[in-house]
Amino acid sequence: MFLTLTVFGFVAMFMTPGLCCSPKEYQTRDGQCCPMCHEGTVVRKDCTRQTGTRCSPCVNGTFMNRPNGLNKCNPCTPCDQGNGLFAKQGCTAATDTVCHVVNGYFCKALMDESGCSSAEKHTQCGPGHRIKAPGTSRTDTVCESCPSGYFSLDGVNCTVWTLCSQTQIKTKEGNMTSDVVCVAASRHHYFPIAALILFTLTVAGLGIKGIKGGLSSIKNEIPRTSDGMASSGSPESKDRGHLG
Ligand SMILES: *[C@@H]1O[C@H](CO)[C@@H](O)[C@H](O)[C@H]1NC(C)=O
Ligand SMILES: *[C@@H]1O[C@H](CO)[C@@H](O)[C@H](O)[C@H]1NC(C)=O
Ligand SMILES: *[C@@H]1O[C@H](CO)[C@@H](O)[C@H](O)[C@H]1NC(C)=O
Repeated sequence: MFLTLTVFGFVAMFMTPGLCCSPKEYQTRDGQCCPMCHEGTVVRKDCTRQTGTRCSPCVNGTFMNRPNGLNKCNPCTPCDQGNGLFAKQGCTAATDTVCHVVNGYFCKALMDESGCSSAEKHTQCGPGHRIKAPGTSRTDTVCESCPSGYFSLDGVNCTVWTLCSQTQIKTKEGNMTSDVVCVAASRHHYFPIAALILFTLTVAGLGIKGIKGGLSSIKNEIPRTSDGMASSGSPESKDRGHLG
C-alpha cells in the first residue's frame, strides 16, 4: 500500500507541469522549461524549441544577484546618508549596494551578511551616568548610573566627590550630577576668635576704665550694652569697640 502511494506520488510529481524543470531552468507562462539567465541579467525572451533563453543585463541602478527567470532587475538599495549609512560597495549588475554605518552610529537592521539597511545614532549618556560600554557599529552605547559617592557632569565618567579638607566646610552635598561644594573655613574659624579677642580687650578696657574712672562710668555703659544685645550682635561689638 505504502509502496503504491509512493510510486503514485513520484508519477504525479513527474506529470505535474512546472515541477518538471531542472534547478537551472525556469517555467514559462505556458508551462515550458527554459534555461535561467545568469546573475546580472534577466529574461528578455523565453526560449523556443529552436533558440535558448534571451537575457539582457541589468542597467541603470538595478541588479540581479541570482540565476533567474524574471523579467525585471531589482532596484539598487540606496544608502541613507542622512541616517548614518554610506555605500561601502557600489551596486553592480550582479550585486546590490553594500551600506555600512558611519562612526557614531550603530546598525539596527542587518542586510545579508555584511550590509546594513538602517542605522541609529549612538545614545549619549546623560549627566549622572557614565559610559559602561562605548557604542560600536553593531551595538548602542551602554550607560550606567554613577554609584553613590560619585558624580558625572557630562555623562562620560563618574568622578568621586571632593573630600573637604580640615580647613574647609561643606556647603553643598554631592549627588549624581554635581560635586560636593567646599568653602574655605578661615573666615568662619577666625570670626569667633576675633570676637573673643575683641571681647577680652573690651573687658580689659572696661576694667582699666573702672579702676581709673570709678564705678559711675561703668554704670552709664550698662544700659547701652543691653540695648545692643537686644537688637543684634554687631552693633554691640561696635559699641564695645568704641569703649576700648
Ligand atoms: C539608462 O539611463 C540613461 C540615462 O538616464 C538612459 O539614457 C538609458 O536609456 C537608460 N537605459 C535603460 C535600459 O533604461
Ligand atoms: C573616561 O571614560 C572613558 C570611557 O569609559 C575611558 O576610556 C577613559 O579612560 C575615562 N577617562 C578618565 C579620565 O577616567
Ligand atoms: C544635585 O545637586 C544640584 C546642586 O545642588 C541640584 O541642582 C540638583 O537638582 C541635584 N540633583 C538631584 C537629582 O538631586
